Amino acid sequence: MLEALNELETGGLAELESASDDAALEQWRIKYLGAKGKLRGIMPLMKDVPGEQKPLVGKRLNEVKSALEKAFESRKSQGATTSDQPFIDVTEPGIPQGEGRRHVISRTIDEITEVFARMGFAVAEGPEVEDEWHNFNALNIPADHPAREPIDNFYLAPPAPGKEDSETQDPQATGANRPGRGGDGLRMLRSQTSTVQIRTMEKTSPPLKVISIGRVYRPDTHDATHYSMFNQVEGLYIDHDVSMVDLKTTLFQFARAYFGPEAEIRMRPSYFPFTEPSAEVDITMKIKGKYQWVEMGGCGMVDPNVFEAVGYDPEEWTGFAFGLGIERIAMRKYGIADIRWLFENDARFLRQF
Ligand code: DAH
Repeated sequence: MLEALNELETGGLAELESASDDAALEQWRIKYLGAKGKLRGIMPLMKDVPGEQKPLVGKRLNEVKSALEKAFESRKSQGATTSDQPFIDVTEPGIPQGEGRRHVISRTIDEITEVFARMGFAVAEGPEVEDEWHNFNALNIPADHPAREPIDNFYLAPPAPGKEDSETQDPQATGANRPGRGGDGLRMLRSQTSTVQIRTMEKTSPPLKVISIGRVYRPDTHDATHYSMFNQVEGLYIDHDVSMVDLKTTLFQFARAYFGPEAEIRMRPSYFPFTEPSAEVDITMKIKGKYQWVEMGGCGMVDPNVFEAVGYDPEEWTGFAFGLGIERIAMRKYGIADIRWLFENDARFLRQF
C-alpha cells in the first residue's frame, strides 16, 4: 500500500507538470482526484493493511492526497502557461465605466421646482424665441425703454418680406406681435422668464399660481459672474387680496426649505416696470460656515398695466411676481466661483456635484 501511494505521488506530480493547458489540467484532476480517480481507487486497499500499520499508512494517504491537491491548485492558479489561449486573470479589477450624472444646474432646477410645488405652484412653460410683446410691451416696458436696446438683447433677423418663418412663429399667435402692439414686430431670444407670466395669463383665467424655469439670453461679456445664457425661475400668484405679505412669506418659506432652517430673507425697494411696488430679494445662506446675504433677484406686486395687457380686471385681481437667478443660487449653494465652469462641460468639474 505504501509503495502504491509513493508511486501515485511521484507519478501524479510528474504528469501534472506536463499538463499543458486547461483541458489537460482538468483531465489530470479527473484521473487523480476525481470520484473514480486513482486516489479513490487506492483507498479500499486500506482494509487489507494490518491493524498496527493502519495509522502510519493512513497518515501517508492523507499526505499524498493533500500533496496532489495542493500541486493541482497551484498549477491551476498560475494558469496553464503553455496554453496558446491568452491568460485571463478574472480577479483583476476592471476598467471603471465613467458613471454619468445629472448636471448641477438640472438638479438645482428639479430641487427648486419641488420646493415650489410643495407650496402649490404649478409649472408653466414658454418659448425661448419670443416676440417683443411678451418680452417687453405686455410687461409694461414701453417702446423707448433702454432695456430694449439692441446692444442688450439678441434680436433675430426679421423674416424676409412675405415669407414668415414658421419655426419662430408662436403657434398660439393672436397677432400679438404686430407692429404697434409689439414694437417693430421683431423676434428675439427672451431676456427674462417674465414672458411666461404674460403667456400664462393670456391663456388662463385667474386665480393662478405658477412658476416657470428656463433659459434666458443677454449679450453680456463672459466673466466669472456673467454669461450670455443663464436660467431664471419666475413665480406668479394671482388671486383676490394678494399682498406683499404673501410675497414675503412665499420667498421666506422657499429660503428656509432650500437653504436651511436658519435662512433669512430681506427686500430692498427697487424698480421693475412690471411690478409696483418692486423690491430686490436677498437671501442668507451658509458660505464657509457663516450665513451671508446674497442677491437673488427681483419681485413685487403685479402692475395694473400688466393685468390690462392680458385682459384681467385690475380692480378685481391682485398678484405678486418674482424672478430669481438659478446659476446664482447653485453657485452660492455649492461654492462655485465662476459661472463659466457650469457651461464648459469639463467632467472633472461637474463630477463634484
Ligand atoms: N425679470 C427680472 C430680471 O430678469 C426679474 C424679475 C423682477 C422678475 C421682478 C419678476 C419681478 O417677476 O417681479 O431682472
